[in-house]
Amino acid sequence: MAVTMHGVVVILIFYVTVSAGTEEMYSNYELVSEEEPIDEGPRLDYNDPTWCHPLSLANGELSCVSPRGRSYSGTLGTRCEMTCDRGYKLVGKSSVHCLANRRWSGTAFCRQIRCRVLHLNPHGRYTCSQGFVVDSRCDYTCKAGYRIIGQHSRTCQPDGSWSNNEPVCTDDDPPKIRCPMSRAKYADPGALTAKVAWDPPVATDTADKAPEVILVGQEPNTAFKEGSTVVRYKVYDLARNRAGCKFIVRVVVRRCEVLNPPLHGYLSCSSDTNNYGAVCEYHCEGGHERTGTSSRVCQFNHSWSGAPAECRQMEFRTNVKTVSALMDQFYEKRRLLIVSTPSLMNQEYRLQNLMIQKSRCGLDLRHVTVIELLGSAPQERGRIKTKPLHPGVIEGLRQAFRISRTYFSMLILDKNGVDRERFITPMSSDELFAYIDDFLLDEEERDRLEIHRDFCV
Ligand SMILES: *[C@@H]1O[C@H](CO)[C@@H](O)[C@H](O)[C@H]1NC(C)=O
Repeated sequence: MAVTMHGVVVILIFYVTVSAGTEEMYSNYELVSEEEPIDEGPRLDYNDPTWCHPLSLANGELSCVSPRGRSYSGTLGTRCEMTCDRGYKLVGKSSVHCLANRRWSGTAFCRQIRCRVLHLNPHGRYTCSQGFVVDSRCDYTCKAGYRIIGQHSRTCQPDGSWSNNEPVCTDDDPPKIRCPMSRAKYADPGALTAKVAWDPPVATDTADKAPEVILVGQEPNTAFKEGSTVVRYKVYDLARNRAGCKFIVRVVVRRCEVLNPPLHGYLSCSSDTNNYGAVCEYHCEGGHERTGTSSRVCQFNHSWSGAPAECRQMEFRTNVKTVSALMDQFYEKRRLLIVSTPSLMNQEYRLQNLMIQKSRCGLDLRHVTVIELLGSAPQERGRIKTKPLHPGVIEGLRQAFRISRTYFSMLILDKNGVDRERFITPMSSDELFAYIDDFLLDEEERDRLEIHRDFCV
């Protein structure tokens, strides 16, 4: 500061000297140079329009005030104010003046203002009108399947910041899924259901490569019940956008008309009795024999195979003369219960007769025919129900199975005519049936008996 002050003083003296003898400058010069060497510094010239070099400011504007007028912007003492164009920022002194030493009091330049580089959105992009300089507008777009959230553009502002906030690209495009065609299938034979298969649908999504498909409902290749079943699929992408589809599986049960049981018989049918593949077996009540097919199948074309069977009354001839001729007729068809009594007045017989009369249906169910041997010679009789037996047959039975005429007894023969059990006291029907059920019936007969137990009421 002290040096500067000193300089100013020196200049002032110099100035006074020069201004005093402007006219005789050359003569003076001679004089001065003789006396003492004068400083060779520039002489102050207020008229020199280029005392200081002309100022220029790229991307900015100068506003200079000269003591000598507007066009003398380089004259000594000129003061210039510098401002930068829009988008530029002044670096240096905003105000300078032209000094006596022919220099400007400071320097400055305009630096372009740049906004920071914008982030790249992972699911979108932007394009800018002029890069990252002031007033450049950057427009954001999102990839297919994404939607922009926020302002669609940002502009670089004169203060170097961006307008608005950065938008985001969100996936709001739901995945796409297409279900298989609805389908109908006939129930499998002998079933009310059908196995139905299909290929699970594949979902696509613009953002998510392989979104997971979820089945809501019955799995493919499992048994679907009769009627319509809705099968749904749903799918979510990573952004939890949802899509779904559905189709219908219809199962049709083909049926035949319901079969009528035969007169004096009944049917036992498998599955649902008259659906495709169901099998119905014909059975006859006790005392009746089946003629015709034993079973029929409900076919695909809604008709039953074969023809209906009939149950015919079993016919036994009682007018045969030998035991074997009588027995042959029952072979493998009927069991025999032979009841023998010395007299119709026998108490045990009367009791037994009463019980047997009441249980005739139960006996028939168990395929039992009753043969009665009554009294003793000469009034001896034999009968099956009301039909009399030949005396030779009565005698033959007594001998073959050693049946006494002198006391009450009962004998059970199986279907092969084999003597199985003998009773000498009256049996209640329950006791009799319990014995037959336990020891004489085969498995199949036992099953049927179970089904038709209520038949006798
Ligand atoms: C049903 O099909 C069977 C054999 O598949 C055939 O014998 C029968 O005639 C058909 N019935 C009808 C009514 O078409």
